Amino acid sequence: MKFPYILFLSLGLFLNGNSQDLKPQLPSLCKQYQEFFLIGAAVSPQVLKSADSTLVIDQYNSLVCENQMKPMWIQPQENVFMFKNADYVVAFAKRHNMKLRGHTLVWHNQTPGWFFKDGDKPASKELLAERMHKHIQTLVSRYKDDVYCWDVVNEAVSEEKDEYLRTSSPWYKIMGEDFIELAFRYAHEANPKAKLFYNDYNAWQPEKRDKIIRLVKSLKDKGVQVDGIGMQGHWKIGSPTKEQIETAIDMFSALGVTVQITELDVSVYQSDKDKEVKMTPELEQQQADYYQMCFDVFREKKDKVSSVTFWGAADNHTWLDNFPVRGRKNYPLLFDTKLQPKKAFNQIIKIEASPKPLPKEGA
Ligand code: GLA
Repeated sequence: MKFPYILFLSLGLFLNGNSQDLKPQLPSLCKQYQEFFLIGAAVSPQVLKSADSTLVIDQYNSLVCENQMKPMWIQPQENVFMFKNADYVVAFAKRHNMKLRGHTLVWHNQTPGWFFKDGDKPASKELLAERMHKHIQTLVSRYKDDVYCWDVVNEAVSEEKDEYLRTSSPWYKIMGEDFIELAFRYAHEANPKAKLFYNDYNAWQPEKRDKIIRLVKSLKDKGVQVDGIGMQGHWKIGSPTKEQIETAIDMFSALGVTVQITELDVSVYQSDKDKEVKMTPELEQQQADYYQMCFDVFREKKDKVSSVTFWGAADNHTWLDNFPVRGRKNYPLLFDTKLQPKKAFNQIIKIEASPKPLPKEGA
């Protein structure tokens, strides 16, 4: 049996030049986490056409379009659907056997103004509902064999202290609270098999968390199908705390829905006022420890958490370079600007076997 192995080895050395060129293969995060949950990344066709695509294929088993399925991009004018870019991501996911999240159907941001207008006047509730129906029906049924879950409504809950829902949203202004229920009903009608999510940021904040719970509970009480809550997870080193993350996951899960971390990135800045920094080894270590804590929690709650998606594949492309401060470089992901693994990657790839429970007294 030795002979074919030696032949195989020498062929490998031949193809690789010499043995020193053989780079150790990076372990794959999604394979390592196969028994826990999906590991995803937000991508664009540009990312998938670049050198980053190898990293995406190796490390992630779930994708979401960073922008291409948002209303502004997919239906920029009434009845003008631009599917090309979204289709590209869909085909890539299919080719590489990856799951695909759909993001997002109804949102107050990145939705073109025409939705809310009727000539010079604001659209009526009926007209807006009709447009919502058409939009959701078109997208959800087009991708019904490809997209397994949708962020049906994004960020409808208010951050204002005494306000429940975001009343400044044009959806709310025209349709009132009903827009949320209708969006879920339309999505279910278009693909009864799709898993339907409510998605929001700062979902760990106690006041906001409780409003999300109120919303999802009220939808379920009305018999509306809601399968999951997406915690976006645009976090920063040190915040939210372990306990805040745990409590939110537990409380959401108690509603009978699955939880997904949908847009994870960990900013190296604490506030808008912080000056641009270089990624020092100390900062990288702090970020790695924070990431490790998050993944310890996610793993421990693997029965409640079905997917963790990063908002980007590597630090060479992140929306945080321009938000909340334009042009301030950020380093929020697991791979650096040269696509090399950071300390955070090295720490979360190591899954310690969970300690055996101590034998019960008297046992
Ligand atoms: C929100 C949205 C995402 C994306 C990010 C920033 O979290 O849900 O689609 O726009 O902001 O890129």
